[in-house]
Amino acid sequence: MMKIDILTLFPNMFNGFKSESIIKRAIDNKKVSINTINFRDFSANKHKKVDDTPYGGGSGMVLMCQPIFDAIDSIKTKKSKIILLSPQGKKFTQKMAYKLSKEEHLIFVCGHYEGFDERIKNICDEEVSIGDYVLTGGELPAMVICDSVVRLIDGVIDAESSKNESFNDNLLDYPNYTKPRNYKGMKVPDILLSGDHEKINNWRNDKRLKVTAEKRPDLLNKRVKIDKSGIKENKNKISLDDIKNIKVTEIKQAKKTGKYKLLRTSDIKAITILDTSIIKGYKLKGKSGSDHVTKILIVKNSFIKKIAMKNVKKKIDILNYRFNIVLSNEDDDEGTSRVLGEAEMLKQMIINMYSNYLGSENIDKIIKRINYLINEFVKAKTFQNSFVNKTKEVQRKI
Ligand code: ADE
Repeated sequence: MMKIDILTLFPNMFNGFKSESIIKRAIDNKKVSINTINFRDFSANKHKKVDDTPYGGGSGMVLMCQPIFDAIDSIKTKKSKIILLSPQGKKFTQKMAYKLSKEEHLIFVCGHYEGFDERIKNICDEEVSIGDYVLTGGELPAMVICDSVVRLIDGVIDAESSKNESFNDNLLDYPNYTKPRNYKGMKVPDILLSGDHEKINNWRNDKRLKVTAEKRPDLLNKRVKIDKSGIKENKNKISLDDIKNIKVTEIKQAKKTGKYKLLRTSDIKAITILDTSIIKGYKLKGKSGSDHVTKILIVKNSFIKKIAMKNVKKKIDILNYRFNIVLSNEDDDEGTSRVLGEAEMLKQMIINMYSNYLGSENIDKIIKRINYLINEFVKAKTFQNSFVNKTKEVQRKI
């Protein structure tokens, strides 16, 4: 049974979490125990103080080492993994959830108030954030992480239902339908009613790829390796260039070079999953040589280009919208520098992330377009400022 201890100043926040739905069932079925510990109880101070003012000055209170160190010392074993929740931590992902679900003992440390003494990090194994936003404390992040971890513990949910879910093998989920067949004219796709399981599986795989390509093309960028134990991000990426112009004869060299080589089939769809077992007599291995790659996702360059272009356009539209918001706010100097910073970051991001897919000519055009928008924005803002200053001057004179 996995043991989870949560160090918090607000243990009551976990009551609802522990007493409902799948988490409750997992606790009742002894798959996990979730225990909250109020580290105020460990304070050596006679007033049970847990925080103090920061050295060097500044506002707010900082959680002290002593109560947290002592609380951890009282429960820690060699097998404990201690996780500190903080917005500065490593971003939590499904891959981390899989890793944590294999641990025996997790200890979560929930920060609160303005922050915690930096030295608390020394007794923690990892500092984790659930996203780029600041919450009032680590309690909600601890629940988010616990929820995603507990559902992955063997026997907590039906293994089948988690097999194809979003983010497994870095793809989003396929669309699901239930009764009735026709709801207000919206029909269930015929294929799902056909009873042909092979066709249904193919349709679902296809949908997962298409949905991912449309909504999260960044995930397609990560090479897919389908693995029984869950996700393993394939670090030995095959670039799209690698799969261009590959001839059957080159497969023979795959063994020697240790590089990935693929068989080109005559009919490659916009997106295809290639089962490497079709390459008879050879195995595909990562550069590290350790893992046998069984499935490879191939996405046609033209398709990626289309999706990449769509994404870039969306981002430029958003930037334009942000420029307009700042323009509608006359005195917003802070907004001006922020949005100009965002524009620079967007340019950099587009160059870094999209150059491979869009080619230097398109990237140049896109950067020119952003520069044009920046210039127009700066011109409009300068005009607005001088207008505002003139109006103020006139008002002063009157
Ligand atoms: N504490 C406050 N904000 C947080 C976040 N985004 N993730 C983890 N812990 C936090």
